Amino acid sequence: MSEARHLLSINDLGAEGIDEVLRLADTFVEVGRRPIPRVPALRGKTVVLSFFEDSTRTRMSFEAAAKRLSADVMTFAASASSLNKGESLLDTVRNIEAMGVDAFVVRHACAGVPTQVAGWLAGASVINAGDGAHEHPTQALLDCFTLSRERAGRLGVSPARPRVLEGLQVAIVGDVRHSRVARSDVAAFTALGAAVTLVAPPTLLPPSLEGWPVEVSHDLSSVLVKCDVVYLLRIQAERMREQYLPTLREYTATYGLTAGRARLLSPGALVMHPGPVCRGVELAAEVADSPASVITAQVANGIAVRMAVLYMLLGSGTALAAGGANDG
Ligand code: NCD
Repeated sequence: MSEARHLLSINDLGAEGIDEVLRLADTFVEVGRRPIPRVPALRGKTVVLSFFEDSTRTRMSFEAAAKRLSADVMTFAASASSLNKGESLLDTVRNIEAMGVDAFVVRHACAGVPTQVAGWLAGASVINAGDGAHEHPTQALLDCFTLSRERAGRLGVSPARPRVLEGLQVAIVGDVRHSRVARSDVAAFTALGAAVTLVAPPTLLPPSLEGWPVEVSHDLSSVLVKCDVVYLLRIQAERMREQYLPTLREYTATYGLTAGRARLLSPGALVMHPGPVCRGVELAAEVADSPASVITAQVANGIAVRMAVLYMLLGSGTALAAGGANDG
């Protein structure tokens, strides 16, 4: 990705590009531990957070990442913008770019909007922060980063990069159909050598899985006994136009990671979730809070990973030396 201007899809990176992000993120974890967690790497650059859809983690994580690199951050609030006066998205982004913006972090409910925005901009970079049910590349990167670190530390396996997840059995459980996280994670995990099994009721799988390098199961218990990682997805009701489930209670009974079912996991198996978690639906509260859960580590790692992405797209390659000036 060193040469690339945008990050729109995990496929823009491939295994080597993902590895490059993970290596760089390693160095930014150290920056986050400093008393003043800031380096001047992107001083003078401006990043605009353009979230057309709700977000807590992703928006704040990009904001923290940009600030730790000393970039200026502007926030675009779609609900309080001239879009409500009939201005087009095209005019909106071109006007924002005219103010001297270097990167747009774009989240939108429609798949493809970040790619469209990238095509309209003269020079600024676009980072896809989640587009409809299509992709969420930085989530997949922080998930790979979390897995590679947990694996190296907790599971005692040395991170033999670039296929750092080689041999890992990952189960992705839940509403795959509406999940951009699942699409990006499947691409990223398998690029790094993991084997992925999707576990979901047939109605919550994509209509076609052609080209997906995955196995499919409808029997969560039988998958739990042999997986190293179970990755839960939220039921994304906001994207559902029809009834996909009889009841949430039945979903939890069949596909939820309940406390009883979590006991089937082998010792050392990890529980992951991109958040927001609906406790008691896809994941029992006591499992979310158990030592197997790395959900808060995912969030913490997200900042270092997004710093790496911003730096690779906008940085000049200087001002990064460890222990560099904390003067942002
Ligand atoms: C996800 C998203 O918005 O795509 N969350 C996130 O970015 N961490 C998943 C979800 O909303 O369920």
